[in-house]
Amino acid sequence: MSVGRTVRALTLQDRPALGALSEEAFGTRTNPPPPPPPSWPPAGMHSVGTFVDDRLVANVTGREYASWFGGTQIPTWGVAGVAVEAEHRGSGLLQTLFAESLAEARRRGAALTSLFATATGIYRTYGYELVADRITLEVPTAALSALRSADGIRLRRATTDDEHLVFRTYSAWASRHHGPLTRTGPCFPHAAEGVTEAWTGVTLAEDDTGSVVGYASWNRGSGWGADSRITVGDLIGLTPEATRALLRMLGSFRTVAARVRIPASRPEQVDLVVPGLPPKVVANQHYMLRVLDLPDALEPRRVPPMLTGTLDLTVTGDAFGDLDGGWRITVAEGAARCARVEDAAGPVLTVGGLSALYAGALGMADLRLAGLAHGGDPTYDANLDALFVGPGVHIRDFF
Ligand SMILES: CC(C)(COP(=O)(O)OP(=O)(O)OC[C@H]1O[C@@H](n2cnc3c(N)ncnc32)[C@H](O)[C@@H]1OP(=O)(O)O)[C@@H](O)C(=O)NCCC(=O)NCCS
Repeated sequence: MSVGRTVRALTLQDRPALGALSEEAFGTRTNPPPPPPPSWPPAGMHSVGTFVDDRLVANVTGREYASWFGGTQIPTWGVAGVAVEAEHRGSGLLQTLFAESLAEARRRGAALTSLFATATGIYRTYGYELVADRITLEVPTAALSALRSADGIRLRRATTDDEHLVFRTYSAWASRHHGPLTRTGPCFPHAAEGVTEAWTGVTLAEDDTGSVVGYASWNRGSGWGADSRITVGDLIGLTPEATRALLRMLGSFRTVAARVRIPASRPEQVDLVVPGLPPKVVANQHYMLRVLDLPDALEPRRVPPMLTGTLDLTVTGDAFGDLDGGWRITVAEGAARCARVEDAAGPVLTVGGLSALYAGALGMADLRLAGLAHGGDPTYDANLDALFVGPGVHIRDFF
């Protein structure tokens, strides 16, 4: 019997079938189901599905994000909702879906793509590599209440009038790291609004000039006692004093809530401020990245101004063929130019190796040890490391 298999973009009519596939895969049943939206997909979201005899059996969803790398916003295709119906797993359906989704990503100008993986092996095939963990730290409230007080910091509750300051503070923090989403673009239409309504409290930390140098958004949770805990949305400190003051404020709940949960990517400001052992990790979400377009991903980045010269590398094993071949990176005056060449010297990297190097998550020595790079003269590895090394990879937003 022949099986009719088609791959196409999903539309409003496919939403119930996508909901059922996602609920089954991720166990996220909402009862009663939400009313159908008047239009779907929302701006910035693009789902592509495989149909077997008109039944949706697999999905990959891409979202138009941007992330900070090298002080610049790089368009990033965030992949989510990857699911294959149980009876069709193991038959290679994802290859075509990823090819379609990433082609759409390129058409829309994405230079990077990223995702949270339930198993890293699924996505290595397509060139993604692990670059960070989004972790949840759990800290006893009593430990936070014991922190030294922070000189020169005044805390106050944010109002709706302060929401732009919250967003500005997040951006100031995010732009100093590799990886955080910018929280701008079609998938964050109201990023600078609504934060005070969404949380029990948003606490601002102001320095002695009145500038906001940190904030914490937090939910009190229910009840009081040993099982009660406070959940933090963001804890952003632009100074160590701001971080400490915000943590101490959370610690002031010690009589009613035993623990505080804080999203982070390690090592983290919280680790640096809390004395004693680093806080316990109670959840871990693995973040993977893939370079889609090397010149578009690299050239906007600021690179170390002391670097001058030419670096070659060759990329191999791209499941979609996009990056394979020789590349020459020319660096001068804090900027890099990147072009395809036939006669590239230097090491050979897998796409995952290039992506981990790009993020500053792994240096050449580790890439070689992991089999993600080989060849070339290892004496020059330090040059590639110096080009890509960064301020630490962080990701706050789960998708
Ligand atoms: C994860 C899931 C989508 C994989 O579907 P699938 O039909 O097995 O995928 P494919 O057959 O197209 O395989 C794609 C690749 O992933 C690998 N893979 C699949 N499941 C894997 C796992 N659990 N661990 C490691 N690798 C895995 C396959 O070996 C294959 O790699 P290869 O081409 O190098 O052999 C499917 O099992 C599923 O829907 N699971 C529940 C939801 C889920 O976990 N989604 C992922 C969210 S991040």
